[in-house]
This record gives sequence, C-alpha cells and structure tokens, in this order.
Amino acid sequence: MANDVMEKVVALAKRRGFIYQGSEIYGGLAGTWDYGPHGVSLKNNIKQLWWKQFVDDREDMYGLDAALIMNPRVWEASGHVAGFADPLIEDIKTKKRFRVDHLLEDLGVDPTGMSLAEMGQLIKDKGIKSPDGNDLGEVMQFNMMFKTHVGATEDEASVSYLRPETAQGIFVNFKNVVDSFHPKLPFGIAQIGKAFRNEIAPRDFIFRTREFEQMEIEYFVRPDEWEENFESFVKEMRRYMETIGLDMNKVHELEVAAADRAHYSKRTIDFEFDYPFGKKELFGLAYRTDFDLSAHAAASKQKLDYLDDESGEKIVPHVIEPSLGVDRAVLAVLTDAYTEDEMDGETRVYLKLSPKVAPVKVAIFPLLKNKPELVEKARELYQRIRKDIPQISFDDNGNIGKRYRRQDEIGTPLCVTIDFETLEQNSGVTVRDRDTGAQERVSEEELVHYLKERL
Ligand code: GAP
Repeated sequence: MANDVMEKVVALAKRRGFIYQGSEIYGGLAGTWDYGPHGVSLKNNIKQLWWKQFVDDREDMYGLDAALIMNPRVWEASGHVAGFADPLIEDIKTKKRFRVDHLLEDLGVDPTGMSLAEMGQLIKDKGIKSPDGNDLGEVMQFNMMFKTHVGATEDEASVSYLRPETAQGIFVNFKNVVDSFHPKLPFGIAQIGKAFRNEIAPRDFIFRTREFEQMEIEYFVRPDEWEENFESFVKEMRRYMETIGLDMNKVHELEVAAADRAHYSKRTIDFEFDYPFGKKELFGLAYRTDFDLSAHAAASKQKLDYLDDESGEKIVPHVIEPSLGVDRAVLAVLTDAYTEDEMDGETRVYLKLSPKVAPVKVAIFPLLKNKPELVEKARELYQRIRKDIPQISFDDNGNIGKRYRRQDEIGTPLCVTIDFETLEQNSGVTVRDRDTGAQERVSEEELVHYLKERL
C-alpha cells in the first residue's frame, strides 16, 4: 500500500510536470532529480514561505548567499574532511558498496548507537550476505563529500569540495556580517542553497539525493541563553510546518541520543515525518555550541569573537541551527496531499495542497474552446486577475471535465469558468472548489476579493 502511494506520487509528479528523473534521456543519474514547471513553483513557494517567516518577518535575521565551492581548509576545520562519512560495506564479488546501517535496518535491526566494529561483528555473527547473495567485506567509513579540482591543475593542492551543507558558508561570513551590520545578540544568518553529498544509497525518490537544497539558519546566542532559543526554534519550526500545510499528526519529534548526534552537536531534535515508506527525518534542529566559530578562528587565525555590549566582554557566541531540507519538504507536502476520492461516479486523484504552496492558485477556463467570445472574455479576465494573483493559469485544452481533473491533479484550489451567462446576463462566473467540487456564482466585481479570501 505504501509503495503503491509512492509509485502513484512519483508517476503523478512526472506526468504533471513536477519532478523528472535527472538526465532522463541518458538513462538518468542516480540520486539526481529535475524539477519541472509545477515542481519549481511548489518549491519556490516552500522556500519563499520559509524566507518570509524566518527572515523578512523578523528583525534579527540577515540573509546570505555564499559560494558553493569554498576553500578546502573550511572543510578541514569544520571536521568534514575527517569525519563526514557513512559506514559502508563491500560485496566482495561484485565490489558494490552498501550502507551497513541500511542493511541492518532492512533486517529489522536498529543500528542506532552502534559502533563500526559492532556493526561489522553483527554482520559476521548473523552471516548476513549482500543483497546480491555474496559475502561481505569489512565495514569502513566513506567520506560523502564530492571532490573536485579548482583551477588548471589536477593535483592535491587544487582539491576542493562541493559543499555538503550550507552552514559553513554562514560561519565563514560571521565576521563580515558583524562588521557590516553590528547586530545585537541574539541574531541569525539565513541561507537557502544547494548542498551535495555522495550518498552511497540514494533512495525513496527525492528523500535521499546526491544534490539537494537546504534552508539553514545559524542563530548566534550568548552561551547561557541557548536553551530558551532552542525551544523558541522548536515552536517556529512547528509553525512553519503548519504553514506549508503538513498534517501535524504525521510530524514527530525525536530527541537524538548523544551517540547518534553529529560531531558538533550537544543537542539535536529530528523532526520526523510519516512518509508512505515510513517515519523518517524531515528537518533537524541542533545546538552546535561554539564548535564551528572556534574551529574556524583557530584554523584561519582570524578573530571570530563578538564584543557583547551588555557585559562588555568578548565572547564566542553559541549557535542554534534549524536545518530544513527543501526536497524533503516537497516530498512531505506531495505525499501528504495525495488523495483519491470518488466524484461524479468516478475515482478522482487530487493533491489537497494548501493554497499557500499550490503551484497554480487559480485556473481560468472558457466553458467551450470553440466559442471565440468565451475565450476572449476568459483571456481578458485572466490578464486582469493575474495582476493581483500571480500564480494563475489559463486553460482551454480538452473539455471542462478533463480540465478540472488536470487542475485537481496539480492541486489548484480554485477554478473559474466563463460561460454564456457571464456574457449574456453579466451574471458573473462560476468558481469551483477543488476539495468539494462545489460551484458558486461570483460577480466579476467581487471575484478578486473572493479568490484572495480563499487563498
Ligand atoms: N547543517 C546541518 C546539516 O546539514 P543534516 O541533518 O545533515 O544537518 C539537514 O541535514 C537537513 O538536510 C536534513 O534534515 C534533511 O532535511 C536534508 N538532507 C540531508 N541529507 C539529504 C539528502 N541526501 N537528500 C535530501 N535532503 C537531505
């Protein structure tokens, strides 16, 4: 059943122009996906709502857009060169590599908190074979950063990495933002951007990919004020999930045990979501202490402290980090919204998206395609309404029933139809509600107001 829903969501996403396989005409590239026209609108809405809540609506946030490729010393100081690794094991015959924790999970063993040695021992004790039925080698660590070379030479000195998190772009700009804006503590620096991880086992559509987007904040606080700020971000993250329309009954908060936290974290909450393939991480919230600023200060020999005008002391601020994956948000929104019901005696598929994230807010149709006067009127109305509501579409393909089905499948909350009454008696248009299929007549004068109230 769960696979069934995932298959249907993946098929709908392709059919309706949300998400395509990356490099599809060449057979794809594992762990990469391309967003089509509706996908990019949905994703932009999700990002804009985040930016509005966490940056534009606050006085204590500063936006940033840092480079994707950074000086490799950044990744040495941050601990990623030494420690950003997943445990893997090799099929000794085919040389294929697998995530050990995934192999164990698939066999019903929870690998949480296990060391590499313990996982290796368990694999041996239980005689676990590779998914291809062959013997497995030793458990090893595999660094997930994509290596590249910067400049004309391809030697060790030119090695750099595609960033595996947006966070470090923020830490290395901490001093710049402080010097330009003199913000008072607590304050945050926010960034949306791509991150890259050479995942051994990309899986579950856009859940675990090799190229994805993050929305991250590094929120700088006085060391003794971290707990209240952490709690405040728990609430803000919940509010954001409600805003993008997620069913909060499907959201769970997991207090991550010390052994499973990232090397920089003293406290982490994973916000998990009930995806069709199980309860899995959606977003994370971490208390990163002064780990990153202190590590960069030591490695770069630059002062990354802050003169606290309250105490008159120089301190290295501590950091609360809400980290949200854009693609995981898209997947949660799509799978949560996928609905099948019966309408007019037929099975109907629709996306019950919140109007706030829907890629098309309103679709406008002429009742009949071959009546120029209806088409002209519908076009005129379309041009008028789009000035107030930008994400609207005009559709005169196929019959009206097919158009409703198409709009339902992409989650358009409202459809406006121009019929003969509109022309002859100047008696307004019909507006159809996606979820109920109910239609209401609304006068042209009231139309924009009526639509805006429902979006
Ligand atoms: N700066 C902290 C950090 O990057 P993380 O838990 O590794 O922490 C944060 O990642 C978020 O990024 C995750 O909660 C998830 O939403 C998203 N994410 C991580 N790896 C991903 C992947 N391979 N594919 C898609 N999203 C991913």
